[in-house]
Amino acid sequence: MVNVMKRYEQVAQTLIQEIEGGLYQNGERLPGVRKLARHFQMSVSTIVEALKLVEDQGIIEVAERSGHFVSLKCRDDENSSSLDTVNLPTMSRVNLKPCPVTQSEWVMNLVRATLEPDVVQLGAAVPHADYLAVKGINKALKAVCNQYKDHSDHYDFAPGYEPLRSQIALRMEALQCQVQSADVVITNGCQNALILALKAVTDPGDVVAIESPTFYGLLHVIESLGLKAIEIPADPVSGISIPALSLAFEQWNVRACVLIPNYGNPLGHCMSNDAKRALVMLAKENNVQLIEDDIYGDLGLGNQRALPLLAFDREVIYCSSFSKTLSPGLRVGWIISARQQETIEHLQYVNSLSASTLAQRVVYEYLRYQSYDRYLRETRNKYRQQLRQVRALIQTSFPNGTKVSDPAGGFVLWIECPPTVDTTVLYEMALEKNISIAPGPMFSPRKKYRRCFRINCAQPWNAKFQWAIVTLGGLVSRQLE
Ligand SMILES: Cc1ncc(COP(=O)(O)O)c(C=O)c1O
Repeated sequence: MVNVMKRYEQVAQTLIQEIEGGLYQNGERLPGVRKLARHFQMSVSTIVEALKLVEDQGIIEVAERSGHFVSLKCRDDENSSSLDTVNLPTMSRVNLKPCPVTQSEWVMNLVRATLEPDVVQLGAAVPHADYLAVKGINKALKAVCNQYKDHSDHYDFAPGYEPLRSQIALRMEALQCQVQSADVVITNGCQNALILALKAVTDPGDVVAIESPTFYGLLHVIESLGLKAIEIPADPVSGISIPALSLAFEQWNVRACVLIPNYGNPLGHCMSNDAKRALVMLAKENNVQLIEDDIYGDLGLGNQRALPLLAFDREVIYCSSFSKTLSPGLRVGWIISARQQETIEHLQYVNSLSASTLAQRVVYEYLRYQSYDRYLRETRNKYRQQLRQVRALIQTSFPNGTKVSDPAGGFVLWIECPPTVDTTVLYEMALEKNISIAPGPMFSPRKKYRRCFRINCAQPWNAKFQWAIVTLGGLVSRQLE
């Protein structure tokens, strides 16, 4: 017998999903009944019934004459994801030996593909405009042009535009980091911040520990600075292996360790607070400089923002940007370093004199006068639903033996195909069909992960996108014939 849901039950179910997806945070007031009625295009009485149902499940509470408030009391959802965790990609065994890095050709092809309008962009981790704060940024841009006629007639020399640095410091303080505006240096995106961080603490030939697999842009930086990389295996749930890192520190003179503790790219892992504590202790004992890339930190799929490593140790160098949330094109990022602040300011000046004055004001205007947190809650909710749908589609359209990551945040999936598949071949086959992917060897200096690839899920859930996923599944199956 088909179980038909009543309207108020459907509304209740959607509300619960929105709350669990982080659209409304614990303690936050839900919109009023009339507003919800307009939102769901239902009658007020249907909404009242639905709210009662959600209340019965202990997910919201009513405060007399004040409305309905989210009350997720017994849910300890720190860093959690409700997606199932079966069939995760395996943690790699890596050679704990430093090696030079040569990466360039793949990445340039991938970047070029992002400029082709007909290509389905599953390769580069660039969110489609639907996931970015396009409207809000445009509004902020207009306001800046109206209010600051002088917005571009000078440089904002390093450390950058003070009001923006204050806004960033406020947000960092809320994440338990002891940061003041004077500690923040504005950069041209997170990539620029990573370059400054590594330039400040290494010399050519030095050894840098990295997660394996890791973001290929970091490999480019390591290559361009003439450094050597030592790959440390990372688990798709818990992140970098602390025992393997400890072994690497014993065997090699490691100068720095660069990692993405929150929602790593490509695995989507999130280190627990205990692991973060253990990591900072280990780095201190071995005199290794930790460099944290927290670019995905605001995009966790759970309800609570994961703490940065910087919250556990003031001496961590922290790098981030607004490229994955507000806008990649504005190129606004930042770096914080208690010990290297002066060197970094100088390097920033030498490298680019200043970040864009206009872009810095636009981001300031947005953070100061618009609701970044609401935008983040809505976007995280979208990613949660999108990733669930894409994982389900992969499970039905890829051959048996395929494994897929279950990210705790961000918007990319890491797919591990059956053993004989070669994703560098898959890359060529897919491009012929106008689908771009990022093959696994791009994520390792030793070009490991031949059977793996990464896809960017920050795309509209439309027929073309779904066709691309199903087509990739078919191409992988063809390699097995
Ligand atoms: C982990 C990570 N760090 C840094 C970057 C570069 O960020 P930005 O565009 O702000 O330079 C990216 C972009 O893909 C990334 O995924």
